[in-house]
Amino acid sequence: MMTRYSAISQVRQIVFMDTSASLYDRLGGAAAIENLIEAFYIRVLADPELAPFFQNSSLERLRKMQSDFFNRALGGPVEYSGRTLAHVHHGRGITRHHFALFVGHLLETLKDYGCEEKETDEVIDHINTFANEVTGTSY
Ligand code: HEM
Repeated sequence: MMTRYSAISQVRQIVFMDTSASLYDRLGGAAAIENLIEAFYIRVLADPELAPFFQNSSLERLRKMQSDFFNRALGGPVEYSGRTLAHVHHGRGITRHHFALFVGHLLETLKDYGCEEKETDEVIDHINTFANEVTGTSY
C-alpha cells in the first residue's frame, strides 16, 4: 500500500506534467484520489455548518458519497448508484450556501496537494454543474 507521503509526492509530480489526460489521471488515479478523499472528508466533518447533515450517516455511506463526488469532480469513472443526485439529496435542506462550503473544502484540499489554477478551475466548473441537482432546485 502506498504511504500518504509517497502518494502526495506522486500527485505533485503528475499535476505539474502538462498532458491532455483526464484530470483524474493527471492527479494520479485511484490511489492518489483515495488520499484526497480522506483529506476532504476530514475538512467537511470539521465544518460546523456541514457536520450536522452527516450526523446519522454511516461512515461507509459517507465514504461512498465522497468517492462518487471526487470521481465526478475529476472526470473519473462513476459507478451507477441507481438513484439520481436530486433524489438522494432532496429534502435534506442543502442550500447553495452549503454547496459552496462543500466546494470550498474541495478547493482547499486540492490546494494542499499542489493542484494548479488551471486544474482547479476545471474542477470547480465541472462540480458546479451538479449544484441544482444537489440543492433541489431542479428536482
Ligand atoms: C456534487 C456534489 C455531490 C455529490 C456528487 C454527492 C454524491 C452523493 C451520493 C452518490 C450519495 C449517496 C450515497 C449512498 O446512497 O450510498 C450522497 C448522499 C448524501 N449526500 Fe451528497 N453529494 C454531493 C453534495 C452534497 C452536499 C453539498 C451535501 C451537504 C452539505 C451532501 C450531503 C449528503 C448526505 C447527508 C447524504 C446521505 C448520506 C447517507 O445516506 O447517510 N451531499 N451524496
